[in-house]
Parts: sequence; C-alpha cells; structure tokens
Amino acid sequence: MQAVSPVPDPALSWTERELPERERTKHVHRLHPYLGKFVPQLAEVFLRRYAKPGQLVWDPFAGSGTTLVEANALGLRAAGCDLSAFNCLLAGVKTAAYDGEALLADVAWLSVPRGRGAMPPATPYLERWFAPEALADLLAFRDRIPETVYPDLWRVVLSRAARSARLARHDDLDFPREPVRGEYFCHKHRRVCRPVAEAEKFLRRYVRDAAQRVAEFGDLRTDAAVSILPGDARQVDPPGPVDLVFTSPPYPGLIDYHEQHAYAFELLGLERRDPEEIGRGVKGYCDDIAAVLRRARRALRRSGRVVIVVNDSRGLYDGIVRAAGIRLEERVLREVNRRTGRRAGAYYEEVLIARP
Ligand SMILES: C[S@@+](CC[C@H](N)C(=O)[O-])C[C@H]1O[C@@H](n2cnc3c(N)ncnc32)[C@H](O)[C@@H]1O
Repeated sequence: MQAVSPVPDPALSWTERELPERERTKHVHRLHPYLGKFVPQLAEVFLRRYAKPGQLVWDPFAGSGTTLVEANALGLRAAGCDLSAFNCLLAGVKTAAYDGEALLADVAWLSVPRGRGAMPPATPYLERWFAPEALADLLAFRDRIPETVYPDLWRVVLSRAARSARLARHDDLDFPREPVRGEYFCHKHRRVCRPVAEAEKFLRRYVRDAAQRVAEFGDLRTDAAVSILPGDARQVDPPGPVDLVFTSPPYPGLIDYHEQHAYAFELLGLERRDPEEIGRGVKGYCDDIAAVLRRARRALRRSGRVVIVVNDSRGLYDGIVRAAGIRLEERVLREVNRRTGRRAGAYYEEVLIARP
C-alpha cells in the first residue's frame, strides 16, 4: 500500500539557514552552473538509506553528476547515463581523480599571460554571442588545453568562463534569447550594467577555483568505480545488477538541457542530440520515462529500490510507475524554499520510492 504524505517532510525540507548555499554547492558541485540539478544532501539521504558500500547505484538521467559524486564519496559504485555530451563531460570531470602536482602544473601553464594575437576561426554563433576580445580570450585558452594533463577539466572551465562572458543580460543567464550590445537596466544587480567585453578575468578566476574544488573533493573521493555512459537512457543498460536507482528525470516543457549549454556545444565542438531529449513535449513523455524505468527495473536486484525526485504537477507519475512495472511504496513531499533573487519563493517536489 502506497503511503502519501500530505505535508512536506521536515527532514528533507531544509531552510536556507539549515542548508546554506555554500553547502549545497560544496566542492565539485559548483564546477559549472547547471539548471535542474538536485541538492547533494538529498542524494546523500537516500544513498545512505538504501545502499551499502560496494553496491551499485544507477542514475539514468545523470545530468551534472550529483548522484555519482555523492555515491562515490560514500564508497558506492556508481553509473550514470545522459544524452547530453556536455553533461557527461561535466559528470566525468567531477568524479575523476586528480594528482595535486599535475593540477598545479596545468594551472601554471594556463596562467601564463597571452597576447590577443590573430583570431582563430570562430563560428557565426560565437561571433554573435561574444564581444571580439572575449572571444579572442576564450579561443586562445582553448588552444592551450591540448597541452594540459587534464584537458576535460579545463574544457569545463572554458565553458564556465564562456557562460559568464556571453553577451547575455546578467539577469537572464539561463536562456538568453538575444545578445545584448548596449547598456541595460539589470534586475539582478539593480543598476545599469554593460555587456561583458572580455573573458580573461573569468578564465583566471575559474581555473583557480576549479583546481581548488577538485582537490577538495579529492580528500573525500573513494576508489569505488564510477562509469558514465553517454547516450539515450531508453537504450542504455546499467553495467551490472543494480541495488539502487536514484534519479530525477526531465519534466515536460521545463528545461531545455541542450540549449542551456549551447555555448559549450559550440566552443567544444560537441555533438547535439536535441531530438532525442525527453521532456521537449508532453507527447510520448510517459512512455519514454516508463521505458527508461522498465530497463532499470530489469537490472534491479529484488531487494533494490527506485527513488525518483520529481515535480509531478501534472500527476503523471502514478501511471508511469505502473507502466514501468514497479510498485510505489511512498510519495514524500519536500518543500524547496531557498531559491534567491528573481526566482525566489517556495515550491514543492516529491520523492517517489518504489520497489520491483
Ligand atoms: C533533471 S536533469 C538531471 C539532473 C541531475 N539529477 C543532477 O543533479 O545534475 C535530467 C537530465 O536528463 C537528461 N536527458 C534528457 N533526455 C534524455 C535521454 N533520452 N537519455 C538520457 N538522458 C536524458 C538531460 O540531459 C538532463 O541532464
């Protein structure tokens, strides 16, 4: 019998004071902005509750890799799939092992001052979205990456700097529609702002920040295996029998996961697979998610659990869970009330707990 909690579970509804931003974005969780991730503390609660060291956790919608990072820190084997090549890159960088000296050597190499020489070839997208100096900074940095020990880490840093240096309004960084070329009134900073003209300062700051963050996670990282399987979760199997599925699926019409990192796909030359992204529309959504969960269920041990974090405002998940052939044990309501700025205000999400 499924238990439905009508009120938010206080143990999962942290206030800003209980769970301040620096905790939510600790170590690698702030390597790069990513809209639509869950807080690591939520993953930690359920990983501790339903998995033991050495067991395998599967996240078919791994996104920025929150589940994988937290699972690894607890000594759990972790595997994740994501359709977006950028998200897989990010999750891989967060969960990788780094050698301190090699990191420092990379930082030194990337910090050598460089002139803004002849501009390497850019694409129309890059020319539209970056001021000429900013683009020259980014492309010069990109040219240095192949000489480093950890190229993927610096590709993520390049993307983070590009995100900050775009000709986007500071108060519209998630999905800017048009580049801004003149002064404008900024709702985030409550003053007149100018578009960003250069990228060098962001690159310098984020190189140091990234090195610090991966080193910090290095102190918590275990030797438990992590694998990231890029692809369409409807067709990708976990790499072995699964003890816990912990995931948050895309929701229809909420976030375009490719478009939010369009600049990264352009700068890094990554392949986009937009048409296969689940949640671009409502049509087919339930069948798609059910297909992913059915596949996960086939790999799930009899004692295993499926834990799904979702904002099910359309009430789709009772049907999805049934179609996936798993049994809902509990629906836990959670209040998310610590968003700041223009997105301030409480909202609710649910944690669905199911078994085979
Ligand atoms: C809600 S987000 C997951 C966020 C993740 N929990 C985190 O903390 O970063 C959903 C993810 O599903 C991915 N996705 C969408 N369609 C997919 C598909 N067909 N196969 C695999 N992943 C897909 C998106 O790229 C996105 O990263």
